[in-house]
Amino acid sequence: MNIIIKSKQLMKKKRILIGILVFLIVIQAIQPTKNKGNAAGPKDITSVVQVPDNVMAVLKKSCYDCHSNNTTYPWYDNITPVNWWVADHIKEGKRELNFSTFGDYTAKRQNKKLDEVAETVEKGQMPLNSYLIMHGDAKLTAQEKELLISWAKASAVKLADVQNH
Ligand code: HEC
Repeated sequence: MNIIIKSKQLMKKKRILIGILVFLIVIQAIQPTKNKGNAAGPKDITSVVQVPDNVMAVLKKSCYDCHSNNTTYPWYDNITPVNWWVADHIKEGKRELNFSTFGDYTAKRQNKKLDEVAETVEKGQMPLNSYLIMHGDAKLTAQEKELLISWAKASAVKLADVQNH
């Protein structure tokens, strides 16, 4: 009697596990649209301010996945539901700041965004911590932070200068 009840419970557990597995497999078919355009273009950040190669390298390494029109996706970013979470960050990130279309912003917004770049990097708010867990190489060294901050601040000043004359 006891054995029959136990084996029934086991069967039930097995069915639940299989159900979860099937669910996980099925939801893999639901993929968000990928951010796979051109990061560089006629309206990108370089059309507005000078971006030295070493600054561009840091931006591409640490910011472009969420703030440009082209994201490099590691394999695990293709797994549902991780992909939806990633897609949401990209959508939000691009809405706040898109280096690929920086030239389309108003002069005022360009200036503000450069100031915010300096500010968010200085405060350690960017890149997002949740991103750094899996993208350790995107973590900014003290030197890289300094480089980005001084570039962003100097560019904002230069831009304001051009705009006011
Ligand atoms: C994992 C994606 C991701 C990465 C990588 C990332 N950001 Fe962001 N960023 C976001 C999101 C999402 C927002 C909007 C929500 C928020 O402010 O947290 C944002 C907002 C911003 C803003 C606007 C902040 C404000 O004051 O409203 C700036 C400026 C910015 N990021 C700069 C950067 C810079 C510079 C880097 C690289 C050093 C970077 N981000 C890397 C996702 C990212």
